[in-house]
Amino acid sequence: AAIRDSCYNKTQPLFPHSIRIERILPIMNIKKKALPIRLPHDEVLASITEPLLTWYEGQSTLRCLPWREEVTPYHTWLSEIMLQQTRASAVIPYYTRFLEALPDIESLARCDDELLMKLWQGLGYYSRARNLKKAAGVICAAYGGQLPADFAALLDLPGIGRYTASAIGSIAFGLPLPAVDGNILRVTMRVLQCGEDIAQPAVRRAVEEALAPHYPSGQAAGALNQAFMDLGATICLPHGAPHCAACPLARLCLAHDAGSEQQLPVKSKKAKRRVEQKTVLLLHQGRALALTKRPDKGLLAGLWELPNLPGHLTQAEVEAWLAARGLRTLTIARLPDARHIFSHVEWQMQGWAVELASPDAMVAEDASPLVWASPEELADTYSIPSAFQYFLHEHHG
Ligand code: ADE
Repeated sequence: AAIRDSCYNKTQPLFPHSIRIERILPIMNIKKKALPIRLPHDEVLASITEPLLTWYEGQSTLRCLPWREEVTPYHTWLSEIMLQQTRASAVIPYYTRFLEALPDIESLARCDDELLMKLWQGLGYYSRARNLKKAAGVICAAYGGQLPADFAALLDLPGIGRYTASAIGSIAFGLPLPAVDGNILRVTMRVLQCGEDIAQPAVRRAVEEALAPHYPSGQAAGALNQAFMDLGATICLPHGAPHCAACPLARLCLAHDAGSEQQLPVKSKKAKRRVEQKTVLLLHQGRALALTKRPDKGLLAGLWELPNLPGHLTQAEVEAWLAARGLRTLTIARLPDARHIFSHVEWQMQGWAVELASPDAMVAEDASPLVWASPEELADTYSIPSAFQYFLHEHHG
């Protein structure tokens, strides 16, 4: 178990007559500040960097990922943002296409929003793309178009958190910063056989602080972070049995020694996802399909979507809803159900394909007008989030 800073473990209160802090905090609705946590077995952390770096040098991924081939601060930044929440193999085509369209930070800062969304379509978490553009604007205005080689300055940019600032700092600028993601957390907690809850921000900080003194500067800094990522992705696996026989750290790993790899790391459960039911309408007239724009705030902000209504409506309810908007239904058919899972919400969708006689009068529920898109425009102009793709595929056959 971790050793907590001893000054917080004193049994005698410093001010015996003051009100106990635990009793005030709930009233004030302030979270109690997490106690600093110190990880055990620093000597083990000192011994893992060499074998990890040696192992990494021999890996084929060193060559086959495009952001490892031509390393520039912009390339590292873009790849790290795309790789949040998304597998490397899925990112590669997006990364290549993005750089062809927007080869430098200045072109990103000046790009058209619809193009940006189109380049991101299918990757999800679209605020990542909007933050990229916002940050590019700041970089052009404040840093002459160059990413700053400084942890605090990177952290200040939109969309860049501690992990990303460290990844860019180490990979692109050679700064000795551990980039603490799920992989580093898992590897570290196993190597140290530490049962602290990695869902706690204080534990992430503790891992950063424990690793930082052992980080090299220069090219090895980025190599070490990427070695942790690759080890976590290919050997020290999160689910099922890890491949300890192939692990360069097996000899040093305290969890492997104790046979407790699969019990670690400890991670408390997140709150359950909220479920929303929706009725999605594939409204077409000839080749044209109706789209509407999502609100500027919230989930999938500002993207195009298929018109949809809350709840699961019956055929009669859908027809009544259309009729109330002055629309004549020629044909209506139920589509297969679909489900889409976001980080905090799950959509359970029922779909209806409707052939309309007179689409022009149509105004969406919130009075935002629908646009009518041809199949060519659907492919080239409008970015429609993956959640609706199940129904679009039905439309195209
Ligand atoms: N995931 C996040 N960053 C990565 C990187 N630089 N290489 C491979 N996978 C990653």
